[in-house]
Amino acid sequence: MKGTSRICARIFTLSCALSSVLGATYSLSDNIVGTGFYNSFNFEAIPDPTAGRVNYVDQATAQSLNLTFASADTFILRADDTTVISDSSSVGRNSVRIRTNNAYTTHVAVFDMVHMPQGCGTWPAVWETNESNWPAGGEVDIVEGVNDQGTDQVTLHTSPGCEMPATGRTMTGTALDLDCDTSVNGNAGCGVSVGQAPSFGPTFNADGGGWYAIERTTTFINVFFWSRQATNVPADVVAGGSSVDTSNWGTPVANFPNTDCNIAEFFDGNNIIINLTFCGDWAGAVYATSGCPSTCESYVDANPTAFVDAYFQFTSINIYT
Ligand SMILES: *[C@@H]1O[C@H](CO)[C@@H](O)[C@H](O)[C@H]1NC(C)=O
Ligand SMILES: *[C@@H]1O[C@H](CO)[C@@H](O)[C@H](O)[C@H]1NC(C)=O
Ligand SMILES: *[C@@H]1O[C@H](CO)[C@@H](O)[C@H](O)[C@H]1NC(C)=O
Repeated sequence: MKGTSRICARIFTLSCALSSVLGATYSLSDNIVGTGFYNSFNFEAIPDPTAGRVNYVDQATAQSLNLTFASADTFILRADDTTVISDSSSVGRNSVRIRTNNAYTTHVAVFDMVHMPQGCGTWPAVWETNESNWPAGGEVDIVEGVNDQGTDQVTLHTSPGCEMPATGRTMTGTALDLDCDTSVNGNAGCGVSVGQAPSFGPTFNADGGGWYAIERTTTFINVFFWSRQATNVPADVVAGGSSVDTSNWGTPVANFPNTDCNIAEFFDGNNIIINLTFCGDWAGAVYATSGCPSTCESYVDANPTAFVDAYFQFTSINIYT
């Protein structure tokens, strides 16, 4: 990555400077569709680092329980919706967590998603990190929220020394905390509330989902969102073709500039991770004020049928570099 930015500085100074303002053209490197998800992602049957009421299963188990399903043009990931979990069980509801084999530095990723997990106690996430180098390798949460509440929240988490400016960010979302350091504010990170109703949970699903995209360069990270019902979805996003030009994409929902954060220093090669947990550090902590019934773990344990809609459905993930 350092090599890339040096080359950028020496040879492409003008286009690199312009790219931080205007976006750039990228070429397709990974087109992940249907059963192709099994080649591009690994299932991670690991204990949940966020203390969720969850049991992440491996690929063979997920396939035998139909917690994952793929056809030629669709890919589904879901939690168990048939099993009552005993209060005394040391593990929670079966679910899935997958991570790409490939890692990405400068890139665009476009997520064409038809449905995201919903339900009281759910905490779905689509995000990027280097699990072997956290937080030094950075973390970008692209799609995240809990308990069907509110709108999407986009967040960076980093080592100390990366902050976001209070003003001057070109984005439609609203800045939350500004210090991305995981060791302050209880690891809240530097978040942006997207603020558009269809960006998360039941409303996203009712609208037929939509597209999320991340653009990461050495000088900024942008996240874009378009509902399936939006009239301004860029043609190259809809087409999922061989290239995209982010300069035509309009204003991102979240913008993270390098004014007080050396993006190239705080982020290394990141994998894409998609996970669905229950309760835990976020969904559990705010459950009591969410309007959801009972307590989070009791509800998740006792009500399997409440999780019939706790699934991700992807049409594709396209990565451009
Ligand atoms: C799931 O995703 C969120 C992404 O924000 C992450 O913070 C959390 O650690 C993940 N839960 C786990 C680890 O599976
Ligand atoms: C598995 O899930 C898919 C997608 O939801 C569904 O179409 C299929 O019928 C399920 N298979 C079984 C055996 O339940
Ligand atoms: C992830 O972190 C490990 C440990 O620091 C490092 O060796 C590896 O190169 C990183 N991966 C990428 C793709 O940058």
